[in-house]
Amino acid sequence: MILLAVSASEGQTAVTTSVESAAMKKIVILISGRGSNLGALLAAARAEAWDTTLGIRVAAVISNRADAVGLQVAREFDVPTEIVSHLAFSDREGFDAALAGAVEAHQPFLVVLAGFMRVLTRSFVEHFAGRLLNVHPSLLPAFPGLATHRQALAAGVRVHGATVHFVSSEVDAGPIVAQGVVCLRPDDDEESLARRVLEVEHRLLPRCVAAIARGDVWLERDQVRARPGVAAQLALLAS
Ligand code: GRF
Repeated sequence: MILLAVSASEGQTAVTTSVESAAMKKIVILISGRGSNLGALLAAARAEAWDTTLGIRVAAVISNRADAVGLQVAREFDVPTEIVSHLAFSDREGFDAALAGAVEAHQPFLVVLAGFMRVLTRSFVEHFAGRLLNVHPSLLPAFPGLATHRQALAAGVRVHGATVHFVSSEVDAGPIVAQGVVCLRPDDDEESLARRVLEVEHRLLPRCVAAIARGDVWLERDQVRARPGVAAQLALLAS
């Protein structure tokens, strides 16, 4: 009797678990390197129990580089990793098609570019339109591209920061979800500025992902919409 009861209850648990995981919305995170934004996302997902509170989970971390340190970060959080190396493809289109296939295999509701250092083709971006989120270390539209902290210092701006945005087919462009502002200090150099902006990225990106998952923020005809008060809650101001 007891054995039967145990096996029935185990069976029930297994069915419940598989129904829950089928209903769970999935995120795929793309990286190329260090993976500190990935770590911030995974830490927030764990600390805030996103699986139960938001019904979302990180299904996979995909890197275009086998030596990306971020792969180890993913493993520490028990998140499956995959490598789609751009070196295996002779052109951007071939790589992006393979990458799109690997990502779409998880049927994600959101794809997060967390330090993914490849320019994506228009067809990749269009395929994932409305589901593709990027974090960039500047207050876009100022300073797209690389060396953003150097650009900010050279321009003499008084504030700098980070942007989380939906991706459009231009580089570092697309509807802005939220921004975090860092005030410049007289003695700032590239390194000090990079450190403070990165801290802002680490706070900004998880809260944007959670807001999108919660339905507090959404994309409507290329415009980011938010429930009243949410935009102000997402914005960050660091000293
Ligand atoms: C971050 O500054 C991100 O904004 C930019 O690349 C950097 C990646 O850092 N796109 P990490 O790999 O998340 O540490």
